[in-house]
Amino acid sequence: MDFFSNQLRINHMRRFTSVHDLVGTDQHGLQSALSDAVALKKDPWSMSTLGTRKTLGLLFMNPSLRTRMSTHKAASLLGMDTMILNAGSDSWTLETRDGVIMDGAATEHIKDAAAVMGEYCDILGLRTFAGLTDRNADYEERVLELFVRYAGVPFISLESATRHPLQSFADLITIETLKTVKRPRVVLTWAPHPKALPQAVANSFVEWMLAADVDLVVTHPQGYELAPSFMQGSAFADDSSAAVQGATLVYDQNAAFEGADFVYAKNWSNYNDYGAITSKDMGWTVNAGKMALTNNARFMHCLPVRRNMIVTDEVIDSPQSVILEQAANRVVSAQTVLMRMLQGLV
Ligand code: CP
Repeated sequence: MDFFSNQLRINHMRRFTSVHDLVGTDQHGLQSALSDAVALKKDPWSMSTLGTRKTLGLLFMNPSLRTRMSTHKAASLLGMDTMILNAGSDSWTLETRDGVIMDGAATEHIKDAAAVMGEYCDILGLRTFAGLTDRNADYEERVLELFVRYAGVPFISLESATRHPLQSFADLITIETLKTVKRPRVVLTWAPHPKALPQAVANSFVEWMLAADVDLVVTHPQGYELAPSFMQGSAFADDSSAAVQGATLVYDQNAAFEGADFVYAKNWSNYNDYGAITSKDMGWTVNAGKMALTNNARFMHCLPVRRNMIVTDEVIDSPQSVILEQAANRVVSAQTVLMRMLQGLV
């Protein structure tokens, strides 16, 4: 049994860290969550007293614009109070390694911070990016798991080392509400970036798309292969689960774009040569010529985006671009997850 299968068995507690936590064992789980999301999008104040007298606590170990504001807004729509801390600037610097002698810069251990925050809050969220130096530590989600273990209250991931589930759920809501065919062709394309970025958004997008009713194609330069467990759709499959259809990998970006209904651009660093940048090939930048190969595809990106590196201004500012719909749907995804947590369904 691999790490992820084991994690599923021992740690299926009240948490939202992946699509699995929303879908559960119900075959129609994702569709039901999408229905809830569509209803909340239509009438955002319909559950405005559900969270009365409940407090959401959000701890950010990394910067954020969308996750911070959309999750706060989602909680407000449910009647919750929200407290937000940026670790190291408006709270203490945190130690995240377990069992170390704390004689360095960090003032407080994350497990003490989690336990204390759990005394003040009914639901806690944490953002903790991949360190990109120790693949095992990142893919075992050591920081997130420590936090969850000591928090003692339901937990929501605000992006962790390997996944960004609130983003992926918002992306799926965007695709579901804009698609013009029953089963759209969705292309995830790597694009160049000057800095080494985690694989979390790409992993998570693959994970959610494989659970949805879409044909997923992933395209990237040789060497940028994502973790096999994500590409094969087995990151959370247990021994008894039916075979999951994996993602299709196409190295030729132009071929991948042909007939696409949605193009999702994202950079990530190497998984195998962990954290390395082995290409900044601007030939992978999404431009109007590449979009012309598609089925008039919608352009997607989670933001923040490096313009004219990931995608040209011409494409991201065109009517085909749905980046603002995605950002708006971040409120809907967070509200749906918080609502289900408050109802005891997650
Ligand atoms: N897409 C996203 O998570 O944005 P932030 O990093 O600004 O929260």
